[in-house]
Amino acid sequence: MTNKPTKATITFDNGAAPIELPILSGSLGNDVIDIRNLSKHGIFTYDPGFMSTAACNSNITFIDGEKGLLYYRGYPIEQLAEHCDFMEVSHLLINGELPNATQKQEFTRTITSHTMLHDQLSNIFRGFRRDAHPMAVMVGVVGSMSAFYHTKGDIHDAQSREITAHQLLAKVPTIAAWSYKYNIGQPFMYPANHLNYAENFMHMMFATPCEQYVPNPVLAKAFDRILILHADHEQNASTSTVRLAGSSGANPFACIAAGIASLWGPAHGGANEATLKMLEEIGDISRIGEFIKRAKDKTDTFRLMGFGHRVYRNMDPRAAIMRKTCHEVLNELGLNDDPMFKLAMALEKIALEDEYFVSRQLYPNVDFYSGIVMRAMGIPNSMFTAIFALARTAGWIAQWSEMNADSGHKIGRPRQLYTGETRREFVPIVKRT
Ligand code: CMC
Repeated sequence: MTNKPTKATITFDNGAAPIELPILSGSLGNDVIDIRNLSKHGIFTYDPGFMSTAACNSNITFIDGEKGLLYYRGYPIEQLAEHCDFMEVSHLLINGELPNATQKQEFTRTITSHTMLHDQLSNIFRGFRRDAHPMAVMVGVVGSMSAFYHTKGDIHDAQSREITAHQLLAKVPTIAAWSYKYNIGQPFMYPANHLNYAENFMHMMFATPCEQYVPNPVLAKAFDRILILHADHEQNASTSTVRLAGSSGANPFACIAAGIASLWGPAHGGANEATLKMLEEIGDISRIGEFIKRAKDKTDTFRLMGFGHRVYRNMDPRAAIMRKTCHEVLNELGLNDDPMFKLAMALEKIALEDEYFVSRQLYPNVDFYSGIVMRAMGIPNSMFTAIFALARTAGWIAQWSEMNADSGHKIGRPRQLYTGETRREFVPIVKRT
């Protein structure tokens, strides 16, 4: 077996001097060629979409897309989903370690006691149209937290960062639930702090002041699992957005709002909502063939939503866990014969056997199943991505804190391959054709 290389050399076909670059190794995963000094040689690398570029170093989450591995701080996602709740996982992501019993109690108490929003914030909700998408409201209201919760302003101070993390974890569920309540014209429900994190969110979504609401423990557990599975995913689009926005020293609430905006897209967090919309459009098992044909047609922009992943090429470990949870929830609710869920299961089966999907390693991803679970729980499609955002807040704030704790971090400033006009002279308007 050959030794691992420690240096790479770029050679040029015009006789220019070669450039030697160090190769760095992390604790797990691919080695990286350190190109930080390349620009001094008058050359950049070109990598749209960051297909081959590590933009930071991080201790938080590890993914091996080939092997289907996902670790938070070294712990396999399967073990965390089986044995932990979202509060423990959030503590792990933000503080680096699973809490002991006392730490968990303290952390949970801190988060629980900050779930209420500044009363003035309810006016911000009221400024939106009733039919605004919950993600539009989330972007706006989370961004507006920067005007309500002034940290001491020192993002380089660990305690300030911790307070911000607690505020976000505590208040984002309230904001998400209120964006739904506003949408359907029901009164905002205040948090009920005797409930756990998942139950409390369900209470704020489904309770009304007129009737008592008792969360179903199977559904609350399933919801908590959705939060755990979506809590972090290393340098995905929204997390990279949070880091890039934060790299300039921007306000953390504004940075998280930027992450929410990025998550909204159908290629990222919007996939769970898009999956259900697609299932509704397919409508019947007899029409699956037609849509599979469209997904394969390169002249058609249609893609099978909830299938494929940039990093996981064999299987998404979160999907396997969510698939199991999906069946538990459908059983609990007696929904196994519901036409929509039968359709989803038929689509899953056909796509898993189809040569096009098999050869491209396109498997159902976590959002295929999480969308089905949330629909079964009575959560409307439009809230799916908002719930993803509330889960991912734990990861975003952990990644933002990690970046700011590193005194050597730099403002994110990619370069470009310019392909526009070369220099040309100004033409007065009267002479322009
Ligand atoms: N349906 C049909 N064909 C697909 C799909 C799909 N969902 N996904 C990829 N392909 C094809 C694609 O056309 C290409 O084919 P060819 O090689 O013949 O040109 C090949 O598979 C490789 O695709 P790609 O576009 O190079 O893959 P990517 O890594 O750029 O895209 C993706 C990854 C997730 C954006 C894409 O698979 C997709 O759009 N999936 C549907 C949306 C979705 O479910 N997104 C949620 C991802 S999980 C949540 C999260 O972590 O944010």
